[in-house]
Amino acid sequence: MAETSSLNIPTVDLADLASGDASRLERAATALREAFGVFGLVYIKNHGVDTQALHRYYDAFAAFIARSPEAKKPYGRAELWYQRGWTPPNTEVAVAGNGQPDFKECYFVAPYPNDEVAAMEFPELYPENVWPPDAPPYFQDGIMTLGRSLHDAGLKLLRGSAVALGLPEDTFTQLCERAPHITRALQYLPLTPAQVNTDIVWGEEHTDFNLLTLLPGGRFLDPEGKPAPSPDDKSGLYLRTRATPDDPNGIKVRGTAPAGCIVAQVGQQLEILTGGTFLATPHVITAPGVSGWQRQSAAHFIHVHTSAVLFPLEKFRTPSAIRSYAPPVLAGTYDIKTLVDIGLAPPSALDKLGYRHYDRLNRQRAGE
Ligand SMILES: [Fe+2]
Repeated sequence: MAETSSLNIPTVDLADLASGDASRLERAATALREAFGVFGLVYIKNHGVDTQALHRYYDAFAAFIARSPEAKKPYGRAELWYQRGWTPPNTEVAVAGNGQPDFKECYFVAPYPNDEVAAMEFPELYPENVWPPDAPPYFQDGIMTLGRSLHDAGLKLLRGSAVALGLPEDTFTQLCERAPHITRALQYLPLTPAQVNTDIVWGEEHTDFNLLTLLPGGRFLDPEGKPAPSPDDKSGLYLRTRATPDDPNGIKVRGTAPAGCIVAQVGQQLEILTGGTFLATPHVITAPGVSGWQRQSAAHFIHVHTSAVLFPLEKFRTPSAIRSYAPPVLAGTYDIKTLVDIGLAPPSALDKLGYRHYDRLNRQRAGE
């Protein structure tokens, strides 16, 4: 696959979107159409995320991850489909990744209170947050603050995206209200010398299943666990561009943001709603060519509400989009199916999607 630098990916300035100035708005809209239409990814300037606070949080997260598996085990909650708390290593798999689990540990939190009615309908998608009572300082505040600032940036981008597509400004944001948004801290694990330069990747190539993902930028930890610059240029986030006649496999692009910028990625839900006008970005996190190094990163996943229907919006409902994205599916149902696909929910979760009371007839016939 051809490879190119990340220089062609547009940057959008959130100050342009807020300016009310027609020419600045048009500049942002043009950047968004190109970024989300071709790359599925945009760099964001003036995003409002506090980088110093982010690094303070990464320190706290590293201290938690450094604890023994026994100490972390109470926060690895399979019955919550790992949607809150700790994800143990070798748990999650990418759908296209031939079943090789990702080489990472994670921690999931919801930065906003749950929708209580939706939580009755989809208990595993809206559980309460899980916190270690003896968490390192800033473990809780750090990720809550980060999640909310990423969410605010994401909502601005979604309003800008709607305008860029000629839709009412609140088209996407109203679908997101009280949805199961989730913020995740990730730590990619050190390779042993024998694993270096094998086909092991930190995160297999995949597309995100939510609406929009915000990535504030990560950092490496050297073999002593100290923050350090990248040990080589082999490791990091790569994305795959849209297929074209010239490049049917797409082009591999490094997704490292310019200094001071964060990244936003299109997820499957935004692809479906726009009938493929914006495309979910396939991305992979490659491991370095040296042993002992780790990488920390974070992501905020904006979702549409579980009661929204995932299907191309009227404007994008061409015959080919209908064929590509039919049948319309409730977002909550879609979430359950995907969590089974990636190994976080058990296959039995799919039994919830049909009628569950057939046994009543048997009991009735038996006169119980
Ligand atoms: Fe991802």
